[in-house]
Amino acid sequence: MKNIILLGPPGAGKGTQADLICDLCKIPKISTGDMLREAVASESELGMRVSNILDSGGLVSDDIIGSLIKERLTKPDCKNGSLFDGVPRTIGQAEQLSEMGIDFTHVIEIHVEDQTIVDRMSGRRVHPSSGRNYHVDFNPPVKEGFDNETGEPLIQREDDKPETVLKRLNVYHEQTKPLTDFYKILSDKGVLKFFKINGSNSVNEVFQDISDQI
Ligand code: AP5
Repeated sequence: MKNIILLGPPGAGKGTQADLICDLCKIPKISTGDMLREAVASESELGMRVSNILDSGGLVSDDIIGSLIKERLTKPDCKNGSLFDGVPRTIGQAEQLSEMGIDFTHVIEIHVEDQTIVDRMSGRRVHPSSGRNYHVDFNPPVKEGFDNETGEPLIQREDDKPETVLKRLNVYHEQTKPLTDFYKILSDKGVLKFFKINGSNSVNEVFQDISDQI
């Protein structure tokens, strides 16, 4: 059983590595970012409530995130563990997850400098229905502008504009980065394994470093 958290700033490569880790460990990806974007795309009541928050680069409330996770964990595919991509993002969310009784086995921090992130985000392209990520230079699709698996068009995310990326980075440093100390303490106590990976290396190198640890 593996329950793995991927921590790191926007654009660190969490989604990219999440897909590879899920294939390796045969566990599902739980990405609150993907779930919220799906809600926005389907124009559900939740989508209407969070749409502006996503576009502005702020964080959705801990209560909403807690409810999403609780419901997702009732699905049978989570019974052998899950990969948590971009959640928790606040100490409050981390406390909620531990109250739900999830036994985390690994917490992986993917570290990338802010300037690299700003450069990366302008080249990101996304397949909206699966959340698959590409980059025009570093991880291009086989056919420019189209998803490798479905052949459907790729889009650029609304929150990848440079000014919104800077806001998301600020939010990360203020509210999410403190989680690294939170989980290091648990790692020191032997409750789980925390490790930090250099996310500036190539996609394959980062994945190799992660695979070596899990
Ligand atoms: P979310 O979708 O989770 O966005 P994020 O954490 O900001 O992360 P990103 O998806 O932007 O980046 P990533 O680290 O996954 O990198 P990627 O692999 O795509 O959240 C979006 C919004 O939803 C938030 O701003 C917030 O409003 C809300 N939200 C979500 N969860 C929430 C929560 N728990 N609480 C509150 N609010 C929440 O890679 C980026 C690019 O770089 C791609 O183009 C990729 O191809 C490329 N790349 C990846 N790895 C490499 C590499 N090693 N070298 C070169 N290029 C690379």
